[in-house]
Amino acid sequence: MKQQLEQIRATALEALERAQNEQEIDALRVRFLGKKGELTAILKQMGGLSPEQRPVVGQLANEVRADIEAAIERALSARKEQALAERLQKETVDITMPGKVCQIGGLHPVNLVLEDLIDVFQSMGFDVVDGPEVETEYYNFTALNVPADHPARDMQDTFFLGKDLLLRSQTSCAQIRTMETRKPPIRVICPGRVFRADEVDATHSPVFHQCEGLVVDKGITMCDLKGVLEQFAHEIYGPDTKVRFRPSFFPFTEPSVEVDVSCAACGGKGCRVCKDAGWIEILGAGMVHPNVLRYCGIDPEVYSGFAFGIGLDRLATTRYKISDIRLLFENDLRFLSQF
Ligand code: PHE
Repeated sequence: MKQQLEQIRATALEALERAQNEQEIDALRVRFLGKKGELTAILKQMGGLSPEQRPVVGQLANEVRADIEAAIERALSARKEQALAERLQKETVDITMPGKVCQIGGLHPVNLVLEDLIDVFQSMGFDVVDGPEVETEYYNFTALNVPADHPARDMQDTFFLGKDLLLRSQTSCAQIRTMETRKPPIRVICPGRVFRADEVDATHSPVFHQCEGLVVDKGITMCDLKGVLEQFAHEIYGPDTKVRFRPSFFPFTEPSVEVDVSCAACGGKGCRVCKDAGWIEILGAGMVHPNVLRYCGIDPEVYSGFAFGIGLDRLATTRYKISDIRLLFENDLRFLSQF
């Protein structure tokens, strides 16, 4: 039996020495150490040995098993090292090859003017807030004091999504949402996309961008509105820009104004950019209507405020002398990479 064990050890070690890959090594493990393996077969016969011989043979059997196991480990790690060496050889990187050129993206002109605008208003103490693009009639119209028979509520002007859902036609909804969640003093701007059922042409798009502003506190007057908006115009268009306030109408502000700046292209003399007017309209504004404050649970006898809505696309097209608003939405890289 001792001889048999020695024989098994010798054969196993030699075979493992020659094994080419993991499958072969595994097959040898089964052949020698497996449940039906050669070593196990010998051990099963140990019952027939005398009590003196049994521990001697048993110890030898254990040694043989340990030797074979160690040889298997060695063979496995040798194969692994070899495989790694082969892979390293095959997968060497040629660092002299030319790399891939990455195109560097740029900011969209609307985002560029928005960033400047946020800077200006943050420096005056405004927070930036966000609102949903899908709104209810309540936030887009009712709470903004827009009567039920107002033409803006017509399907031809507003994209309705369902019975009471629509794509917001103005960022003014943010006024209501802000006053519902914040207490005066309030100073916020809310930039975002708005939607109107307009025909597409050089100056109209069914989706465009606005930035709403809202200030509510005790003792806010039209002077505050003028001061803030003049400051904004001078920061964005330059200190020599003239600013003009024209009376206007919005259901949610009273009194209401529209604000023009002198045309930067011609200095106010009149040109193609300003359609010979010398002025360019940039925003609508006004003192928040008492009804709107009441809708939001703010007492108009105690508080007053002003609001404004700036057209961001107009800001971008006038600043960068872009002649057609459609260019802002077509995502033509030849156009966009100029900014
Ligand atoms: N929401 C108005 C518009 O879209 C602009 C506006 C905002 C006017 C706030 C007054 C106050 O035309």
